Amino acid sequence: PRTILLSRHGESEDNTKGLLGGDSQLSPRGRAYAKVLSEFITEQHELRRNYDYLSFNNITVWTSTMKRTMMTSSQIPYDKLQWRQLDEIDAGICEGMTYAQVEESMPKEFAARQADKFGYPRGESYHDMIYRIEPTLMELERQREPVLIIGHQAVNRVIYAYLMGKKPIDCVEIPIPLHTVMEILPNAYGATEKRYDLND
Ligand code: F6P
Repeated sequence: PRTILLSRHGESEDNTKGLLGGDSQLSPRGRAYAKVLSEFITEQHELRRNYDYLSFNNITVWTSTMKRTMMTSSQIPYDKLQWRQLDEIDAGICEGMTYAQVEESMPKEFAARQADKFGYPRGESYHDMIYRIEPTLMELERQREPVLIIGHQAVNRVIYAYLMGKKPIDCVEIPIPLHTVMEILPNAYGATEKRYDLND
């Protein structure tokens, strides 16, 4: 058994404007989270390395290839791996827009996606994402040591649903708050979770 720590990137410039997609950098608040997250992880490592029944020795940090996740990992002093499969959902022609702008300019498309985010065929659907993330999940299953995954809202929904044994179709509305670490502890019949709210 190994523990998995799941976090979104720190708040990005686009998050502050409510823009979908993109590859923006972290906002000042997001940069502060990068520091707090690094301190949290190193502290947990120190506290738990010697007695935790779950090994907490060699933590690896997995991110996407997007600036906001790599910047969030930048101060953490452990080995890092970047996965393109963990990049955020592709919002297609809605990239760079706000939800309000999409609703205003493409009301039918907006309503269709709201009604079926799992199957919505334009850009990338959650169904598409499950297929592209699957190889990363298989690799995760092979790990013997804890992994900290710094991902994105949609990507973390897929990973969380998989690890917690939720139905794929139900993943689309799982709340994945910013600046919160979800620790997932596998057990014989599933998993339990613990949350750390690292908001200032
Ligand atoms: O708003 C942040 C974000 O990660 C966007 O980049 C992405 O398009 C969106 O969340 C995905 O969430 P939903 O599937 O709920 O629209």
